[in-house]
Amino acid sequence: MSTPTPPPPLNYRDWEAAARDRLPAMVYDYYAGGAHDEITLAENRTALDALRLHGRVLRDMSRRSPVTNLLGEELAFPLVVAPTALHEMACAEGEAATARAAGAAGVPLILSTLSNVAVEEVCAASTGPVWFQLYVQRDRDRTARMVERAVQAGCSALVLTVDAQTWGIRERDERNSFRMPEGLVMRNLAAAEASGRFPEVEGSGLAAYVTENFDTALSGKDLEWLVETAGVPVLVKGILRADDARRAVDHGAAGIMVSNHGGRQLDTAPASLEVLPAVAAALRDSGVPVLVDGGIRRGTDIIKALARGAHAVAVGRPVLWGLAVEGEAGVARVLATFHDEFDRAMALCGARSVEEITPDLLSPPPPSHP
Ligand SMILES: Cc1cc2nc3c(=O)[nH]c(=O)nc-3n(C[C@H](O)[C@H](O)[C@H](O)COP(=O)(O)O)c2cc1C
Repeated sequence: MSTPTPPPPLNYRDWEAAARDRLPAMVYDYYAGGAHDEITLAENRTALDALRLHGRVLRDMSRRSPVTNLLGEELAFPLVVAPTALHEMACAEGEAATARAAGAAGVPLILSTLSNVAVEEVCAASTGPVWFQLYVQRDRDRTARMVERAVQAGCSALVLTVDAQTWGIRERDERNSFRMPEGLVMRNLAAAEASGRFPEVEGSGLAAYVTENFDTALSGKDLEWLVETAGVPVLVKGILRADDARRAVDHGAAGIMVSNHGGRQLDTAPASLEVLPAVAAALRDSGVPVLVDGGIRRGTDIIKALARGAHAVAVGRPVLWGLAVEGEAGVARVLATFHDEFDRAMALCGARSVEEITPDLLSPPPPSHP
């Protein structure tokens, strides 16, 4: 007797369960895990779940649009694909598959420095905007060459990650002695001076790689250097405080990403949705857009983030689950579900445009909107 085929994934929990079934435990743990006790990882969700939506009724919702603009680019809806490393562990086509799906969905892909597929190939595969996420390397010339490559390849923005002064201790990876499967390489780093592979050590090979290569002395001056070098807008990712957001903008940031790195760096850092109103309030007069990530899983989560002051959200793990289960088609389905859920949540909240997603939709009101 043949076993019955399981029903297709309907929501993010189904996608994660299906991915977990397919992936080696070491890879699943690397994608799913967080730092230490994973308190921040869990709280990203708890903070979203605690908010209640007070939808408006008796409004004509027959015509509405989730389209928005970010840094001069039109997005089909206010979502970008967050940078996540090592997509070839999920699917043989790696980031090229993710890029095709993101482009077709009309949303930007932020490509990680630690991608398996080279930035040139990813830009060639995508029909939409690709932004390049940068980890500044100790070797500044190598960093400058990477920036040049990304911009020449067609990346229309850079995203400087600032919350990786050192690597968060991810105990799952330590226990699993996490390393890339044989044959995979990080192609943005693979060059004469870098192998693009992790060193052979006990514990997490990625953690050892980062400790060896990433710059631990990043400051506002480096951001200014990058803004001058890049020639494209530079967003700063990994901000959780209003004062840091203001400083980043003073040093030239064109956008701020409120993020605790999906709970993978400083455990017990606050949920990103909790600190978002303060950061958004600090930047309101500057006109600099604010993005937020961490635990965004539903269309209603996007509404909550926008009502708390974000211009768009970024999504990490759900994209990896789609990629692991069905490759490009899986990512396309995950993004289509976000789009559909967001559109319906807009209708049920009485918001005809993203501008009509306002703080009064939420209870309790955020601290900056009494
Ligand atoms: C497997 C994995 C790899 C990641 N790699 C990077 C990275 O290379 N660069 C970076 O800035 N952030 C990285 N992040 C953090 C994400 O960009 C994002 O902040 C986080 O995943 C958002 O939370 P979510 O996964 O709950 O949506 C990674 C996250 C995960 C889960």
